[in-house]
Order: sequence, then structure tokens, then C-alpha cells
Amino acid sequence: MKSSEYENLVSEILACKKCPLYKSRTRAVPGEGPLDSIIMFVGEAPGKSEDEQGRPFVGAAGKLLNTLLESIGLERGGVYITNIVKCRPPENREPEESEVRACNPYLVRQLEMVNPRVVVALGRIAGKTLYEMCGLKWHNIRVARREAVKCRVGGASFKLIVTYHPAAALYNPGLREELEGDFRERIARITFQAAGRKTTLEDFILGEEKRSTAS
Ligand code: URA
Ligand code: SF4
Repeated sequence: MKSSEYENLVSEILACKKCPLYKSRTRAVPGEGPLDSIIMFVGEAPGKSEDEQGRPFVGAAGKLLNTLLESIGLERGGVYITNIVKCRPPENREPEESEVRACNPYLVRQLEMVNPRVVVALGRIAGKTLYEMCGLKWHNIRVARREAVKCRVGGASFKLIVTYHPAAALYNPGLREELEGDFRERIARITFQAAGRKTTLEDFILGEEKRSTAS
């Protein structure tokens, strides 16, 4: 059954020693969210707060991610969230290629179990890794941001959207605007299409605005 398979995956990650990152972690961070989510968000690696709490995106970047999700009517608890590597790299350095490779089978299994319609890669490391998992050539984040690509990983097939990492947008207002725009336009539209919602995005967002100005 799907959920016991998932529990096995989580226990494997929590006990994993397949790369040197296990040595400095407090807790591994497998990911969280409903296994029937139509959308999955993939970050780079746990940071300090995530390493302490064992949950993804619970620090400052996570607060911004929650705000971005709310801005398009998605609840944080309604989406699946994980990272490319499940353990925090020391001093928040970038994960090494060998660490990404060692950890990758876990992400493949998560993609197969959740089987989302849409995957959003947050930042360059997630974008590059997912592009390569899909057999696509990675150029840079600006090129990748331009369009969603069709992607197949194992038994999962989905649309892949690449955008900036919320942590980068925290100290760069220009990036933050672009990130907000990506959520409002690309991520919302493709997710609503995937969900087969009847309402148009314009109606949906206008409805939200009406509600928020009324309160
Ligand atoms: N940054 C990430 O890439 N992932 C997290 O879980 C938190 C911050
Ligand atoms: Fe295992 Fe991934 Fe943690 Fe490395 S980062 S120890 S491969 S769970």
C-alpha cells in the first residue's frame, strides 16, 4: 500500500548514511505534504531551522514560500514539499554533485509515489538536478524560467517549472518581484489547468482580492 511504502521511504531517509552529510545533520528532512498533491515543490537542501525541526521550509525562506502559496490560493498543507538533498550541508554550503547523486533515488521515489502533475524547482540546484533527471540540457535559470517543460522521471510524468529560490529573493527585491510574478502567472495557471478547475485564474485572483479588501 502506498502509505506504508512512504513510511519505509521516510525511515530510510531518517537513518541514511549514503553520503557524508549524515555526519553533521541534526535531523534528516524527508519532506512533507499530501501524497495525492497535484503539485510538488523542490528546494535545495535543509537550512538551520529545517535541520533542527526535521521539516522542510520552516525558516525565513519557508515563510516567504507560505506567503507565495497563499497568494495563489494554495494552502501550505495542501502541497508536497521536499529538497534535492535531505540533510543540511555544513554552513549552508551548496550540496556537492556526489551528495546530490547519492540522495537522488529518494527524490525519484517521492516523484513516483506522489506522481504530481506539476513540479516546481526552487533555485538553480533544484532546477539543474531536475532538468538532468528528465534528460534535458541545463543552461541557466533565466533560460529555464521562460517555459514549463514536459518531464518524465521513472513512472512519474509532470510539467516542470523552474523559478528562483525564495531565500535568494529575501535579500534581492528585484528577484522577489520576479518570483511573485512566476507564482501569480506561470505556477498558478499551469496548476489550475492541471487541476481542471472551471474558474479562470483571473476570476480566482479577483475573487481573492475582493475577499481581502472586504475584510
Ligand atoms: N531552503 C531550501 O532549499 N530548503 C529548505 O527546506 C529550506 C530552505
Ligand atoms: Fe542520505 Fe541524502 Fe542525507 Fe546524504 S543527504 S545522508 S544521501 S539522506
